[in-house]
Amino acid sequence: MTGEPKPLILNLFEMNTVSHITHGLWPLEGNQRHRFNELSYWTELAQILEHGGFTGVFLADVVGAYDTFRGGPETAIREGLQIPSNDPLLVIPAMAAVTERIGFGATFSTSYEPPFAFARRMSTLDHLTNGRVGWNIVTSYLKNAARNFGLDDQIPHDRRYEIADEFLDVVYKLWEGSWDDDAVVVDRERGVYSDPEGVRYIDHVGEHFRVAGPHLASPSRQRTPVLFQATGSPAGIEFAGRHAEVVFTGGRTAEDFRRNARGMREAAVRHGRSGDDLRCIVQAGVVVGRTEEEAQDRWREYRRRTSIDGILAHASLPVDLTAYPRETPIDVVLRGEPAITGRFQLPPGGTVGEVLDKLVGGREGRYFVVGTPTVVADEIERWLDEDGIDGINLRQYHSFDTARDFADLVVPELRRRGRLRDGDGLTLREQLFGAGRARLPEHHIAARYRGGRNLDVPVEPLRFGAPV
Ligand SMILES: Cc1cc2nc3c(=O)[nH]c(=O)nc-3n(C[C@H](O)[C@H](O)[C@H](O)COP(=O)(O)O)c2cc1C
Repeated sequence: MTGEPKPLILNLFEMNTVSHITHGLWPLEGNQRHRFNELSYWTELAQILEHGGFTGVFLADVVGAYDTFRGGPETAIREGLQIPSNDPLLVIPAMAAVTERIGFGATFSTSYEPPFAFARRMSTLDHLTNGRVGWNIVTSYLKNAARNFGLDDQIPHDRRYEIADEFLDVVYKLWEGSWDDDAVVVDRERGVYSDPEGVRYIDHVGEHFRVAGPHLASPSRQRTPVLFQATGSPAGIEFAGRHAEVVFTGGRTAEDFRRNARGMREAAVRHGRSGDDLRCIVQAGVVVGRTEEEAQDRWREYRRRTSIDGILAHASLPVDLTAYPRETPIDVVLRGEPAITGRFQLPPGGTVGEVLDKLVGGREGRYFVVGTPTVVADEIERWLDEDGIDGINLRQYHSFDTARDFADLVVPELRRRGRLRDGDGLTLREQLFGAGRARLPEHHIAARYRGGRNLDVPVEPLRFGAPV
């Protein structure tokens, strides 16, 4: 390896709920997850991350209940599986008030609420955090979410990305084009707060949205929040190529990750950007201990307490595998249930028991390590250098032990190896892409609206498959 070691983007993976992705673990001794309704949960967590050297916190969100498994939401409700859950945006100001550096990525869906009010909320957050906010763009995968917003069923997958593309066009016009940088003058002598010459309507008229503007918020430090996206589908990858700056790629193996990352970077180039305009991060599980034995003991306990029901409900499996004897061939189950369209396709072959074991144990994959700080740091360096990841979203098994142990034990080791950068005084975008890059680069599609240019020149929409 030549030059400086590649730094790690280190996010904590959170959700404003009880059980996000590590089901069955909220009742563990000392786990604070039941406190997610309290402001102090978020301020305490934010301080751990700020002092612990994290880049930021990433807040997932869904706007519906997991109600496919066993034909209803009961399993999810019983387990606290993303219900009850609260709005992710609203905890950000509290965390920002007690920190100066960490970033905040929050999930918001483009499928159900129109863009104008959301653009304003994000600008507000970018002001209040002094440029530390990011948006995880999702199109929502839950059927129940569609029914919460007046639809009978989900909008088809690729169509959701087409709507998202226009949603992005609107918010770019508001964030980048509606106000000039020097429009806010704050001239006490003349009693002029803003110069109307520098503020304009956007007059967007599209297939899905009509928005007049002007944007109600003045330009914030980043203007457009850092654009995150989580995807793996061809439509999602094309969308990421045009819009995303940080992509969460699924993938259980190094090869999966490399293929996804390559696909995203190629898509970015197709959209006039550079492969280096994208940061690719993965969800990772780290169980660290002062000794190997301590780490293994913890992991054994987490595994023992993991809820299979929770995993199956989260996967939206329409078939209850736990109702079959373990030795039943999975093909027999699938034959009886032709419409297996959960979020994870069941692999053919093997027995029910083998599939259940895989769903529980196999969730860990390549980006998972149990061990001492040295073992963990070695493994993370391998992910960075061999696989080419840019960062991780750290899965929480226990709040706040997961974050605190990583901060106390692993961060000093990563620092010694030059793998973590200090980001004092920087915006979130600068932490990810370097000082001086608080705003989107000129070759990003959003930049076409700067200074009010092109507001009346339609952009070529992304189109996937057949229109519905
Ligand atoms: C690490 C990761 C985190 C995700 N977080 C969310 C989330 O918080 N909310 C959500 O609606 N979808 C989330 N998703 C799902 C994605 O938005 C998307 O629906 C899924 O990856 C499938 O992508 P595709 O439809 O482009 O194939 C996440 C996906 C991944 C891989």
